[in-house]
Amino acid sequence: MLIQRLLPPDLFATKTVFVTGGGSGINLGVAKHFAALGAQVAICGRTQARLDAAAEELRALGARVCPVAADVRDMAALQAALSRCREELGDVDVLVCGAAGNFLAPAEQLSANAFKTVVDIDLLGSFNAARAAYDQLRRTQGSILFISAGMAYMPHAFQAHVGAAKAGIDMLMKNLALEWGSHGIRANSIVPGPIDGTEGMKRLSDPGQQAQFVGGIPLQRMGTVDDIGQAAVFLASPLASYITGCVLVCDGGQNLAGSAFFNQGAQQMLRAQTRT
Ligand code: COA
Ligand code: NAP
Repeated sequence: MLIQRLLPPDLFATKTVFVTGGGSGINLGVAKHFAALGAQVAICGRTQARLDAAAEELRALGARVCPVAADVRDMAALQAALSRCREELGDVDVLVCGAAGNFLAPAEQLSANAFKTVVDIDLLGSFNAARAAYDQLRRTQGSILFISAGMAYMPHAFQAHVGAAKAGIDMLMKNLALEWGSHGIRANSIVPGPIDGTEGMKRLSDPGQQAQFVGGIPLQRMGTVDDIGQAAVFLASPLASYITGCVLVCDGGQNLAGSAFFNQGAQQMLRAQTRT
């Protein structure tokens, strides 16, 4: 990891990081970046076996780890997870709200429950995590990182549910930055661009179209999980101690080209799914 060469290995020593959705993908990558810099890490998700496997990867980096199953839609389960994290690792210094759900669906085919499900996981789940961690974050004067998405500020076809949820997350982030700043708590969002090899990309784009997709990104490459881990450790570190209420877009400039290519590709994917 690049951070291991560029940042002190004890940057987050004595710090506790709690990552929702930390059992896989981008969020696990974020957890690994904190672990590699000395943090102790708690991860939550719905699947204990997935969390246990992720915990082994984090322990291999030297971290003490608390893998605890909780659905972010269930406030009582999250509160229990945060209490267990506190007992095992101490108060949370950094909360990462990364749990999310996504699928392509035309708005006219979304059921009320499909829309609600994504809003509940992404937006309500982020609020639940922040609210459940508040007392601990206040004691540590900690910070919150929300994992948002480009759909929050640029419409993408077949993503009405995700756009609404992620836009809500970014405004929630700003409200918490405003209200909790006086307690020393910072809040920021990271917008990952298209990140190679992730569940999110698998669901939203056809690998056969990747070359064309990359051609539309100003920096001419897909993002990596490490790109997001690096942004996360920066925002949670003392280097960013005066940064709060910020949406950090980490997408190689993809948003500058708009969502048109994404929309065409997604339409072809949906048509292919309908045929099978
Ligand atoms: N298109 C349209 N509607 C869909 C859908 C799809 N591809 N997938 C699920 N839904 C609908 C369901 O039909 C259901 O609505 P209904 O009750 O009106 O039929 C509703 O969404 C909830 O589905 P359910 O499977 O019960 O939800 P869940 O809570 O078990 O799972 C999901 C949540 C649907 C988001 C699931 O895809 C998931 O677990 N995702 C996590 C991983 C992920 O998405 N990673 C990428 C992050 S970017
Ligand atoms: P992922 O691997 O599927 O990560 C999502 C995680 O959330 C999973 O570990 C999942 O575990 C967990 N989760 C889902 N529903 C949950 C719930 N109700 N309660 C608790 N945990 C839950 O997908 P990813 O692509 O890496 O995405 C990670 C984050 O990055 C998401 O916030 C996504 O919106 C954002 N993002 C991704 C991309 C991209 O290119 N991939 C781009 C922009 C933004 P369980 O299923 O075991 O619960």
